Amino acid sequence: MEMTVEKADRGRVTRDGIRIHEPAAFAGMHKAGRVAAEILDEMCEHVRPGVTTAELDRIITQKVEEKGATSATIGYRGYKHASCISVNHVVCHGIPGEKKLKDGDILNIDVTVIVDGWYGDTSRMYVAGKLSRKAERLIQVTHDALMKGIEMVRPGNTFGDIGAAIQEFVEAHRMSVVRDFCGHGLGRVFHAPPNVVHFGRRGSGPVLEEGMFFTIEPMVNLGRPETKVLADDWTAVTRDRSLSAQFEHSIGVTADGFEIFTLSPAGKFHPTWA
Ligand code: MF3
Ligand code: CO
Ligand code: CO
Repeated sequence: MEMTVEKADRGRVTRDGIRIHEPAAFAGMHKAGRVAAEILDEMCEHVRPGVTTAELDRIITQKVEEKGATSATIGYRGYKHASCISVNHVVCHGIPGEKKLKDGDILNIDVTVIVDGWYGDTSRMYVAGKLSRKAERLIQVTHDALMKGIEMVRPGNTFGDIGAAIQEFVEAHRMSVVRDFCGHGLGRVFHAPPNVVHFGRRGSGPVLEEGMFFTIEPMVNLGRPETKVLADDWTAVTRDRSLSAQFEHSIGVTADGFEIFTLSPAGKFHPTWA
């Protein structure tokens, strides 16, 4: 008989329901994270004015297969695509479709793959054609906010320290952090406790422990933070239609800090267009 996921997954779970993974699990996460990051690296050359997001998703589907991985999003709660592609004022969960990218559009591509049962989840920003100054500033602040959050990751710090670092940085630049979507634990499952929110108070929330795996994936808006979900039940947009950006890494807590599982092998996490 096949072992269930629960039995195969060694380690323990904290009072907050957060799984503590054994050291050997890091290798599995690195392998999955690398495949997801490679796919995003390989998408750089495909993003240009005139291409549709459905075409980009078809390329991603093919790459997932070529690499011997499985898409985590196809079939997830009825979702039918290998990526989420969120253009301009779309905050997250943009559904690939037949609309062509125009010069100056900015977009987030988010890919999650499963390799040997481990999940790798990452997203980054791209531009079709010429980047405007205001979009460039938004993307830079969003990237740097993710990194400020990641720098807080070490045993003894709290999830509130991560959220506060992100929020303080973003608001110092007069932009806003989306409250309606968050990062998440992952491992041999796609979405697990805790909710990793990108705002909050230092010292609040669960304490980080070695062996926790989770994503940090801040969404930042040029205007107000409020979002709404469209009638397709997926696409989240800014209520004021202001531009939005997002970056996501999957990371693990080590004895003295963190490891990023979804580092770009080509060094193209940001910028993707250089
Ligand atoms: N990858 C997204 C995340 O960061 C989740 C996408 S779920 C989907 O959590 F169904 F919309 F693809
Ligand atoms: Co995620
Ligand atoms: Co994601």
